[in-house]
Parts: sequence; structure tokens; C-alpha cells
Amino acid sequence: MKVLNVAILGQGRSGRNIHGAHIHTDDRFKVVAVVDPLPERRERALKEYPGCTVHENYTELFGRKDIDFVVNATPSHLHHPIAIDLMKHGFNVLQEKPIAGTVAQVEELKKVIDETGCMYAIFLQSRYRRQFVKIREICESGVLGRIVEVKITSSGYGRRWDWQTLTEYTAGSLYNTGPHPVGQALEFLNYYDGKPEVYCKMDRVNTFGDAEDFVKLLLSAPGRPLIDVEISSCDGYPLFTYQIQGSCGALTADYKTVKWKYFKPEEAPEQRLIRTPLVNDEGLPAYCSEKLTWYEEEWEEGNVLDQVFASDTKMLYNDVYDYLTAGKPFNVQFKQVAQQIYVMEEAHRQTGI
Ligand SMILES: NC(=O)c1ccc[n+]([C@@H]2O[C@H](COP(=O)([O-])OP(=O)(O)OC[C@H]3O[C@@H](n4cnc5c(N)ncnc54)[C@H](O)[C@@H]3O)[C@@H](O)[C@H]2O)c1
Repeated sequence: MKVLNVAILGQGRSGRNIHGAHIHTDDRFKVVAVVDPLPERRERALKEYPGCTVHENYTELFGRKDIDFVVNATPSHLHHPIAIDLMKHGFNVLQEKPIAGTVAQVEELKKVIDETGCMYAIFLQSRYRRQFVKIREICESGVLGRIVEVKITSSGYGRRWDWQTLTEYTAGSLYNTGPHPVGQALEFLNYYDGKPEVYCKMDRVNTFGDAEDFVKLLLSAPGRPLIDVEISSCDGYPLFTYQIQGSCGALTADYKTVKWKYFKPEEAPEQRLIRTPLVNDEGLPAYCSEKLTWYEEEWEEGNVLDQVFASDTKMLYNDVYDYLTAGKPFNVQFKQVAQQIYVMEEAHRQTGI
């Protein structure tokens, strides 16, 4: 089995707690270098990844031939410039979200990917979540009929005071949490060759920074369901993570359980449009009333949330391994994530945040 050598930039919540933690469980990868400006994080890395080299600046990696790819888990405003610099120096990149803050930066990235031929994989592990995959399967099976609206929420109650609250770091709820629900929302919209219509309202509620911590985002496109994404830090009663309305049924899901119900149009009583006032059997005024046979189903993720998170990460690392060892294409494609940044930039333009 080929073992791929990895350099990790950043030893924070992502670089250490997600990427480093995964690699400890996966024999196909080995951390050979760690970069972090904080000396205590470099010290700890030496202990946690035996044999790795540690560096204050990623440019110290330039010239090394033993690194198969670099995980860019630096703060978000550094993603685009560092990824470009790495690829221009011949390194494959596994990029944390968000890939950039503007469409112009995304175009620059695309140019460098094409020019250098380097791998540019995007770490959007929520696209692999089994629950999301299951919900997509249900919608695509047609049992719910035509999908009219998809609502996705990623909300709770929380105050925040770290760099993820600052616009100068390409932070705030939309760039930080947003790539997960918006990435899933764009899959439901499936309109990657066009530009969806965007409507957004943002607010700053419990944040200590200048970026938003409340987002309501509506997306629409011809012949597609209406998409409603909410990311709120002041929702004390989050009721669902997904809520889907279709012409023959509906679906609701919390973080773990999916429930859906539908009727079969072929079993529905035959009806015809009546223009005269409706009456019941006794000739009295009446409403439309009929008996539909409803079918209800339920599916459970069956895992605790941190295991789900680890399994999403593993699936994404499978893709990176298969790409680098067998040339298999990625599930998360560049054009999909590029559209995400278009939506986010437009949302920020509309709201002035
Ligand atoms: N995919 C996910 O679910 C997920 C989860 C958490 C964070 N993230 C992403 O990971 C990125 C990092 O976020 P975090 O929460 O780990 O932040 P963090 O503050 O916990 O860690 C960032 C680390 O990067 C280091 N750093 C800063 N500048 C650097 C540079 N030039 N080179 C190398 N290291 C540098 C910092 O010293 C720090 O150790 C963000 O872009 C965030 O969006 C993604």
C-alpha cells in the first residue's frame, strides 16, 4: 500500500483536531511536516507526529520532494494566496473551506490549477454526510413528487469572539458555517451552469466582531425548487436541519433522524375542478375534503455526531487517496464550490456586511 506524505499548515481546530486526528487513524497517510507560526503548536506537533519537521513559515517547504500534498488549514483569509503560492511551487493542495472570499480570487485559483496541473482538492466533508446522501436519494427517487422547496438550517444559540467573527479574516457565519449548508443547497438546486438568483438578509446579533452571525439566504433558478438556508446564532429552538416540500409529500430531518411521508398519485381519489360553491352530502356549504393514503418512512443516522464527522472526513480522504494513486475524479468539484463563492459574495454585496 502506498503511503502518502502530508504537510499540514495550521495546527488549530481544523489542522490538528480534524486533519491530524484523521491521519492518526489512517495508515495510508503520514504527517511529515507541520507549519504553524505559534511555537507551542510546533512543539506539540513534534510529539504528536513523530519524525515530522516543523516550520514557522510554509515557504520553508519549498524545494521538498517528499510531500505528496499540503493541507491548507490556515485562517480563511490566507486560503487563496497560500494555495496559489503552493501550487506555483509544485505542491498538491487539500484546501479547507472557504476556498476564497471573492469570484475574482476563485478565477485566479482556477487559472493556477490549470497552469500548474496540481491537485486542488476541497475539504467540504459535509457533502459526504450519509444523512444528506440519503435525503438526496429520497428526493431523486420521485416519491415526494416535484420538489418545491428545500429548507436547510444550521442554527443554535451561541456568542462568538474569535477571528471567525471578523470580515478581514473572510469570516462570519456565511463564509465559516455557510460552505456546509450552502454546498448542500447548491446540490439540491443543481444549476451549476448558470447563476442562481440570490436574496440575502444578514444581521449581527451576539458576535463580538464585525461579521454577520445571522444569515437568511434564498436561492432560486428556473425550474428548480426554492432554496432557503438559515444560519443563525440566536435560534434557541432550532426545529429541523432539513425540511422539504414536494408535490406528493414532505420530508423533515433533525441532525440524526429523517422522516418522510407521501401519497401515491395513482391511488388518490379522482377529482375535477368545480367552479360552483361546494356543498356536502346534506347540501350544506363545504370545504374540499378527501382521504389520501399516506405512507410514512423513517431513517436514522445511527451514530453519534462526532463519529459522523469522522466518517465524513474519512470519505473525503478516500477521494484524495484515490485521486493521487489512481486518478479517480473528486466528488466535490471545483465548479460547485466556485458557485458557492459567487453566492456568498453576492449575499455580502446585498447586505453590505
Ligand atoms: N471543514 C470543517 O468542518 C472545518 C472546521 C473547522 C475549521 N475549518 C476551517 O479551517 C480553517 C482554520 O480554522 P481553525 O478553526 O482551525 O482556526 P484556529 O484558529 O483554531 O487554527 C488556525 C491555525 O493556523 C495557524 N496559522 C495562522 N497563520 C498561519 C500560516 N501562515 N501558516 C500556517 N499556520 C498558520 C494558527 O497559528 C492556528 O494554529 C478555517 O478556514 C476554517 O474555516 C473547517
